Amino acid sequence: MGEPWYINLMDEESRVHSEKVAEKIRQEIQEKGLMGFARFMELALYAPGLGYYCVGTEKIGRHGDFVTAPEISPLFSQCLAGYCQKALSQFNAKTILELGAGTGRMAAEILNTLDQMNCLPEQYLILEISPELKERQKKLIGELSSKHLSRVKWLENLPENSFDGVIIANEVLDAMPVTIFQKTSDGYSERVVGLDEGNNFIWKTRSVSESLNNEIQKLGISFPNNYYSELNLNVNPWVSSLNQILRQGEIIIIDYGFLREEYYHPQRNTGTLMCHFQQRAHSDPLILTGIQDITAHVDFTAVGKFAESLSLKVKNYSTQADFLLRNGLLDLMQKAATTPEQQFILANQVKMLTLPSEMGELFKVMILEK
Ligand SMILES: C[S@@+](CC[C@H](N)C(=O)[O-])C[C@H]1O[C@@H](n2cnc3c(N)ncnc32)[C@H](O)[C@@H]1O
Repeated sequence: MGEPWYINLMDEESRVHSEKVAEKIRQEIQEKGLMGFARFMELALYAPGLGYYCVGTEKIGRHGDFVTAPEISPLFSQCLAGYCQKALSQFNAKTILELGAGTGRMAAEILNTLDQMNCLPEQYLILEISPELKERQKKLIGELSSKHLSRVKWLENLPENSFDGVIIANEVLDAMPVTIFQKTSDGYSERVVGLDEGNNFIWKTRSVSESLNNEIQKLGISFPNNYYSELNLNVNPWVSSLNQILRQGEIIIIDYGFLREEYYHPQRNTGTLMCHFQQRAHSDPLILTGIQDITAHVDFTAVGKFAESLSLKVKNYSTQADFLLRNGLLDLMQKAATTPEQQFILANQVKMLTLPSEMGELFKVMILEK
């Protein structure tokens, strides 16, 4: 057997760091036994001072591990700003709250666009769980939108008092830890993480708890044998907490995902986990511990159904392409493209955002209204 594909892509520093994160997880497995995948993902991504999102490497952007829509094109954030302007004025609201703001590029672009439209929000709140990204956001917003920096406030937790406004979460739900269940001829079990004789992480199974079994049953899907997939048990508490802090306004959720029937399609029998390392996508979360991104697609039926149970209205569920095109993407491109060269660059960005083979169809936009 040859060397793993990623060996030559790791420098000494990332190898040493990865080993530290792996050791932290190993210790917990040695102390407590098999580890649920959600805990593994939580530690690999968010262990304080160690996890992927909590250390100083460049993660998001062309020189990082993956790119997101705001990093691909400013037109994405400008389009979203146009939508926010309408929602803010409909609710006579003056607050935007962004969750998981990544590099801060989208916040800076939204503020600049709203300024040009003469409708700056009084405050632009950011709730970011990674201390390292928070610092990056402060720096980039300071560079790209310095005159609006004073309107931006970083929160440690969701605001205590409810507000009228717009909440935005781009690629946040997919970064939340998920639990993995599997179905075999023996019934359901949980796919968890253990250690082999060489102390490497390996997949193991354990019986499902009563509460996990209830959650699987609630999906209402008859799964075939030899099937595994994910459940994001954080969705309901997350939507519920957003509902509590929003007096009136809208919650815009953008992420890759499907409605339930498609998410749990019989042919999607190995789930939706995806990892990103240096612009390479693969499906093994047990390697490159702490130095790669781990994501799972979003079951938008789960989000919408739970939101409706709280009396939020699902105002929009569409592909990203549809949402952007309905909200003036092409006009924005034409206005911004003043030279043939710029036209070429922006047209390519629009393709990345909207083509079915790129982000256009896999990414969805769900808007919840209160
Ligand atoms: C995949 S990145 C997306 C970043 C950015 N929104 C973008 O589109 O470029 C996920 C972001 O969500 C943050 N995050 C993950 N879970 C979060 C949570 N529960 N609350 C707030 N931020 C969270 C991460 O630290 C990171 O900034």
